[in-house]
Amino acid sequence: MTKRVAVLISGGGSNMTALIRSMTGDHPARPVLVLSNDPQAGGLAKAADLGVPVQAIDHKAFGKDRPAFEAALHDVLVAAQPDIICLAGFMRILGADFITPWEGRILNIHPSLLPKYRGLHTHARALEAGDTHHGCTVHQVTAALDDGPVLGQARMPVLPGDTPESLAQRLLPLEHALYPAVLRRFAAGDRRPVMLDG
Ligand code: GRF
Repeated sequence: MTKRVAVLISGGGSNMTALIRSMTGDHPARPVLVLSNDPQAGGLAKAADLGVPVQAIDHKAFGKDRPAFEAALHDVLVAAQPDIICLAGFMRILGADFITPWEGRILNIHPSLLPKYRGLHTHARALEAGDTHHGCTVHQVTAALDDGPVLGQARMPVLPGDTPESLAQRLLPLEHALYPAVLRRFAAGDRRPVMLDG
């Protein structure tokens, strides 16, 4: 049975585009929705150009009422009936009430070698720590931020003169290779981690 995938984005959607483009041919999944918390997110037009239904729920319209925003997000997802939800550059923290009904079916990509550097500014923190390697992680989402079972990692060396910007730029193509590889396995029910070296 082909798996239905919804992708949540907040920005340009380069990871979303890599995921959508990978779901062709004998891939065990197909995209059914791209959803954003920002109606101006550049990725929405990219998804529409790729023929995927798009929707936006402006989190600002809910002010500080996060439960109401998450309830609206949940309702749109229920209507799309995804088997898998991929967070791809989705920058809103989701609460336990939202995650619990979808637990075990939500994936996220994080730009660090988890469990190192949960949260923001991962590239700067890796440099500050003098790390020799950096990378990204795809993990299952749980109520604990940037935690949950690791489904894949891509590693790359930190080079002399690297800045947070140069790390981010060199990491993005690795993210675009890792996330589709993990999604293909996850959709096929294979939980063996994907490990890539850049
Ligand atoms: C990526 O580095 C991703 O890991 C992080 O946000 C960045 C932008 O992603 N969460 P995208 O181009 O919006 O997919």
